[in-house]
Amino acid sequence: MHPERIRLARLRDKVMSAQDAAALITDGMTVGMSGFTRAGDCKAVPFALAERAKQHPLQITLMTGASLGHDADKVLSDAGVTARRMPFQVDASLRQRINAGEVMFLDQHLSETVEMLRNKQIAPVDIAVIEATCITEDGAIVPTTSVGNSASFAILAKQVIVEVNLSVPLGLEGLHDIYIPTYRPHRQPIPLTGVDDRIGCTAIAINPDKIAGIVFTDRPDSPSTVLPPDIETEAIAGHLNGFLLREVKAGRLSPSLQPLQAGIGTIANAVLHGLLESPFDNMTMYSEVLQDSSIELLESGRMAFASASSMTLSKACYERVMANLDFYKQRIVLRPQEISNHPEVVRRLGLITINTALEVDLYGNVNSTHVNGTQMMNGIGGSGDFARNAHMSVFVTKSLAKGGKISSVVPMVTHVDHTEHDVDVIVTEHGLADLRGLAPRERAREMIAHCVDPSYREQLNDYFRAACRRGGHTPHLLEEAFAWHLRQQRTGSMLTQEAAAELV
Ligand code: COA
Repeated sequence: MHPERIRLARLRDKVMSAQDAAALITDGMTVGMSGFTRAGDCKAVPFALAERAKQHPLQITLMTGASLGHDADKVLSDAGVTARRMPFQVDASLRQRINAGEVMFLDQHLSETVEMLRNKQIAPVDIAVIEATCITEDGAIVPTTSVGNSASFAILAKQVIVEVNLSVPLGLEGLHDIYIPTYRPHRQPIPLTGVDDRIGCTAIAINPDKIAGIVFTDRPDSPSTVLPPDIETEAIAGHLNGFLLREVKAGRLSPSLQPLQAGIGTIANAVLHGLLESPFDNMTMYSEVLQDSSIELLESGRMAFASASSMTLSKACYERVMANLDFYKQRIVLRPQEISNHPEVVRRLGLITINTALEVDLYGNVNSTHVNGTQMMNGIGGSGDFARNAHMSVFVTKSLAKGGKISSVVPMVTHVDHTEHDVDVIVTEHGLADLRGLAPRERAREMIAHCVDPSYREQLNDYFRAACRRGGHTPHLLEEAFAWHLRQQRTGSMLTQEAAAELV
């Protein structure tokens, strides 16, 4: 019965199978599940629900913190369970259904989902399903490797199912800092003035009577799939680190920089990895996800403290962290995502934010989400929460995609997630465009000189020169602004015939 995992004795008779817990979820419900970038997601109830749907079809609105591990989004959407999904996903199968119009996807700033729930602007959560390390004497829920939206889901839901994960060490208790903002318009400032401040409790306090079922699991998080740095991501890291060093030498940054935020994925991981070899020390992070590189920076002593909402780690790194929790608990705190991503806190702490663009245009507008303006990739995630409010907002991308058939630097992005007003620096493997203090025409020259791949440079220059002849504060040829994308759809490549011929 694991009394050490359910310390409030009267809850012990709530233990049930995943199938019985899944039966509490009925057709049409809104379900709030734990899970943020594959960390701290539920490992049993979603799968039991998908099994049940094969016999007794049902559909739900599924909310999480961010993406789920163990293919849960695939399993649930393949079973026809997911009718609506928010606020983020990364699953290929679900993505296909979203782009086919079969699943309604709400692509939200990650700090905003629970704010909208709290203010009843979206449908309320009927039932929350939350992975836990344990339940305390008071019936409070101690999360596992992510906090995400779990706290507000559990607080706002009518009923709560807790998945107690026995594979997670009990020593994880104390890692989390659960602070929930008060209701607007009389909200007080969030009392967080340093990345290592603790402003809340170590567990999610709810009325224990709402706990309708407890399920035991023992499956660890699915490991991160981030690829090791390659030549291009190393070059991106090199350009950014050189730039930061110049900022320090110019006296605009201190040698410990400002708190760092880095987005998900291979490029962001490589950039942080590059900091291991840098002269900066006593660095801090105020981010939403900690990847292997953040852990390595903590271990190296170059980074003093890291605040986030989840830890998404490779198997080896995960095992290292779990085996040395005393070390990491002094250096890491996990918070609700509305606090890790909160505009008020991001602006106050003055973050250097590093996020990845799908494509970026001449003037520094960034598309993070839509291929050809229509096909959803993953979602905006937290990038908007951070970029708009950053001390310095950096976007990184490889200059080419699909073997050079696509340029990631284009005349005009087909969807804007981050306007030029929210973007300070763009980095590709070719160089870095420092767009701060520049007008659109000056920004374009920086982008052409430093960021676009040489195979597209003349093509972009031609566009820019022709647009300038026509005039405007932000010169464009509207009839040609998407010609590159249309050419790629028609011929398979964004390159003009002449540019392609020159490459041969
Ligand atoms: N047009 C079309 N496809 C493109 C493209 C472009 N301009 N640029 C990249 N791609 C494709 C790549 O070819 C790759 O496709 P594949 O999966 O078929 O190989 C895919 O997009 C991912 O690109 P990759 O270069 O591997 O980068 P990534 O894995 O770091 O992902 C984003 C890039 C933008 C999709 C990802 O960072 C993201 O979802 N960002 C939004 C959320 C976010 O920023 N969160 C930050 C806070 S955590």
